[in-house]
Amino acid sequence: MTERLVREYYSGQGIKEWKRLVRDSYHKLEFDTTTHFIQKHLHKKKGLILDAGGGPGRYAIWFGKLGYDVVLLDLSLEMLEIAKSRIRRSGIQKRVKQIIQGLVDDLSVFESETFDAVVCLGGPLSHIVDDAKREKAIDELIRVTKKGSHIFVSVIGRPAVLVNELIRLPKEIELDFFPVMRDTGNYYGGFGFAPCHFFLPEELEESLEKGGVRVLEMVGLEGLASGHRKETNMLARKQPTAWKIWWETHLKTCTHPTSVGISEHFMAICKKH
Ligand SMILES: C[S@@+](CC[C@H](N)C(=O)[O-])C[C@H]1O[C@@H](n2cnc3c(N)ncnc32)[C@H](O)[C@@H]1O
Repeated sequence: MTERLVREYYSGQGIKEWKRLVRDSYHKLEFDTTTHFIQKHLHKKKGLILDAGGGPGRYAIWFGKLGYDVVLLDLSLEMLEIAKSRIRRSGIQKRVKQIIQGLVDDLSVFESETFDAVVCLGGPLSHIVDDAKREKAIDELIRVTKKGSHIFVSVIGRPAVLVNELIRLPKEIELDFFPVMRDTGNYYGGFGFAPCHFFLPEELEESLEKGGVRVLEMVGLEGLASGHRKETNMLARKQPTAWKIWWETHLKTCTHPTSVGISEHFMAICKKH
């Protein structure tokens, strides 16, 4: 049921989802911070990457341009159609070994230890509301990763979602779904967004470690700027020098537990032993 709603939601997003990560300076924080930390941890510039829940393919293309081979998997056929066209336009078709419709919680099309790195970015894991399926998805991401390789998982953070309700959607605080979402992290859809499990940082860390990887770093992708879209975009547009200093400030602070905790999206960087 929730899977159908997630599929319907992303089928309706179209090109908007392709533009999400570059829409403005605030949204670019997610992409720039993610790629900054991937480059910090992946040194080889070659190997096969699985982009699980890769949607319209922005990260897959980024990896392809760097020289990696990529397999792109997503639930939504519409997202994969956009990815195909963007991959063609970007001229990296040779790097993209497979584009397949599939679920993160069933990667049985892949042998164990197939990939040199696995990424699951921008919240595909958050869209699996069922606890058992989410655990299975984590096990699957780990299973298909080679021993000694990295897994990068970013999800949507629960505290940031609650603050967003306070600032932008206060009417919803009185609705029945609010305390459920607050107490369990689970949101079953129906109010403008696809069903989601909103994570606490320690919850993501524990689930991954239970699955058998070491979490090397947790990173707040919007960090201290989280929720401050207008102010962030204004600073970037009007004060380029200050914006450069803010980016440095962001990089210096985004791994602090406070920054991770308040971020709209946070990423766990893991290594399989
Ligand atoms: C916010 S988008 C992120 C896309 C891309 N990773 C990015 O960061 O730009 C979330 C994607 O997860 C996909 N998704 C949601 N649940 C999924 C599941 N169980 N298995 C595979 N993909 C899923 C959606 O179809 C959507 O394309």
